Amino acid sequence: MKKTCLLTIVISVLSFIAHAQTLKSPDGRFQLNVSVDQQGRPVYELSFDGKPVILRSGLGLELKKEVEGKQETFDNTKHTDASTIDEKADLMYGFQIKSTKTDTFDETWKTVWGEEDEIRNHYNELLVSFYQPKNDRTMDIRFRLFNDGLAFRYEFPDQKNLTYFIIKEEHTQFALTGDHTAWWIPGDFDTQEYSYTMSKLSQIRGKMKDAITPNSSQTPAGPTCVQTALMMKSDDGLYINIHEAACVDYATMHLNYNEGTRTFESLLTPDAIGDKGYIQTPFNSPWRTVIVGHAGTDILASRMTLNLNEPCKIEDTSWIKPVKYIGVWWDMITNRSHWAYTDALTSVKLGQTDYTKTKPSGRHAANTANVKHYIDFAAQHGFDAVLVEGWNQGWEDWFGHEKDFVFDFVSPYPDFDVAAIRDYAKAKGVKMIMHHETSSSVRNYERHLDQAYQFMVDNGYPAVKSGYVGNIVPHGEHHYSQWINNHYLYCVKKAADYHIMVNAHEAVRPTGLCRTYPNLIGNESARGTEYEAFGGNTVDHTTILPFTRLIGGPMDYTPGIFEMDISKMSPDNSSKARTTLARQLALYVTLYSPLQMAADVPENYERFMDAFQFIKDVPVDWKRTVYLEAEPGDYVTIARKDKNSENWFVGSTVDENGHTTQLTFDFLDKDASYEATIYQDAENAHWQDNPQAYKIYKKKVDSKTKLKIKSAPGGGFAIKLTKI
Ligand code: NOJ
Ligand code: CA
Repeated sequence: MKKTCLLTIVISVLSFIAHAQTLKSPDGRFQLNVSVDQQGRPVYELSFDGKPVILRSGLGLELKKEVEGKQETFDNTKHTDASTIDEKADLMYGFQIKSTKTDTFDETWKTVWGEEDEIRNHYNELLVSFYQPKNDRTMDIRFRLFNDGLAFRYEFPDQKNLTYFIIKEEHTQFALTGDHTAWWIPGDFDTQEYSYTMSKLSQIRGKMKDAITPNSSQTPAGPTCVQTALMMKSDDGLYINIHEAACVDYATMHLNYNEGTRTFESLLTPDAIGDKGYIQTPFNSPWRTVIVGHAGTDILASRMTLNLNEPCKIEDTSWIKPVKYIGVWWDMITNRSHWAYTDALTSVKLGQTDYTKTKPSGRHAANTANVKHYIDFAAQHGFDAVLVEGWNQGWEDWFGHEKDFVFDFVSPYPDFDVAAIRDYAKAKGVKMIMHHETSSSVRNYERHLDQAYQFMVDNGYPAVKSGYVGNIVPHGEHHYSQWINNHYLYCVKKAADYHIMVNAHEAVRPTGLCRTYPNLIGNESARGTEYEAFGGNTVDHTTILPFTRLIGGPMDYTPGIFEMDISKMSPDNSSKARTTLARQLALYVTLYSPLQMAADVPENYERFMDAFQFIKDVPVDWKRTVYLEAEPGDYVTIARKDKNSENWFVGSTVDENGHTTQLTFDFLDKDASYEATIYQDAENAHWQDNPQAYKIYKKKVDSKTKLKIKSAPGGGFAIKLTKI
């Protein structure tokens, strides 16, 4: 690891520090002030280039009080103030600044995989120790200013009067300077699969009802509550993004908006009885992050989320490899075939049902012959792996039932020959990707985990796609509470013991933990391509995701749909994928992931082999990334250099209005020429009625070339640049 580490420490220990503490970012453009207000509440404010970004905002937590052994119930809607908070439950008021300490840090670390091969982590730090005389307690808050924004976290040192506590609510505030435009999805304790709404902050309440489109498991968190990463833009052109980093042993944060004070306040995901965190000191909370820039590209270029996570804890990472894959999947998602083996069963008893005695439905896609066909296709076109869903017993029984035992993750259907598939894939040099639909029965999954992972190792599956569809079992628990966030990480760590890479769907939105555990190669945690077969994603969806969901880490978006008319897959499915074909290619560059799927079925690729060539060529690991233009909800254009060659790739995705990109190639090596292969929308392309109209042409370019490329409504373009 290349490491340049600079450390300067200034400690001031006074009995009581009354004046505000200030900190500047390494480039001096951000300034942070920290103090306590008249009620002794820790407060902070942030400015950028002399302009306020976050006005004076309160910090602190409210603990749960035990009233004669009876549990206190929680109420989201009640606003907390000093008069309603019980003294013993108060980690908000009556603080004094006891001591402060500053640091500066500058280190460049190597990624295992990523948007670049090394990342600079450069910040100035201020640690403020707040003392609360009435309870004789100390709460520290560690602030870091990077050149792209602010992060801070609560630290609870080991101490006599604060050993075990239960969080009733965290009250971290973000007071904003105006009625910004925001791209948001409803706060929800059980799903992140929403379309984005663009509105003024003042319109969140009014638009909430329309924003909550029906979904299988939903627990909306309130009429003014949204999820992070929240993207905002001020009227004077400041881009502001609020999220969290390193969410470990803690509930996921939502943001509740107060129109009166124009302030977001943290709202943590509760557990089944409404509690928000069981803490034992010493303990550090996740980081709260505010990324700020003068351009959309500044937000995308930020590496703050990764930098705030701990360095890689896996010693030997040689088995962790980015993956390009195809899968027995789109077939079921479009409803052309099904996960279940039979329609005949109405009741299955795990391990006791003899499937060979039941009549197959004839629609079971995960059969040996079909899987071999996918393995052939993968081998022929250079894909690393094949995912197969619906291979294991239990699917008939699962739909609609929230049972504890549904799947055991080791019992295949009778038409899925595990050993034959293992040997066939091995002979063809293709890896298999296992599928574990946990049915959200977390206990059941943990019970089977060791066996399930060992079964994967034995049968040539170095990666698993897991899923958490439906309500969590045990009942009443939510998808993003402290307990289940610990479960997701438990699976990732245990998987590492077996040298297994994890891609979890419906699990908690990522907060950069893939730096520490790079075998976490993907997550869904947002509306992915599957929704193109469930009615369609909004046309601008992929221009927003990089600013929101992807701030926390890579997404298994599963692009690559070449047949947009889903009724051609399944006559009773009238969905239309709201995209052009050229844009589907661009997504391999614009939606970063070390795990990329070519999601469509082989026969659809066979119809467009010239366009498919881009998916075959595009790498899944990068040396460098340059953000060329980016406006949330409008367009995103990104250039990336292959980690293993001198080639560059460019992708652009645009909204329903179309867009013309003025492309300059100044990121290319100065004295070299490149052959550009350009995949773009044809003149008359349109996502709605002409999505498959594209053109492919070659052009010699160098670092001085300028090109104008027009993308259709719902379109985009992709370029491969081969160094000559
Ligand atoms: C939802 C996942 O996102 C999807 O990819 C998967 O096929 C289904 N769950 C079935 O588990
Ligand atoms: Ca999903």
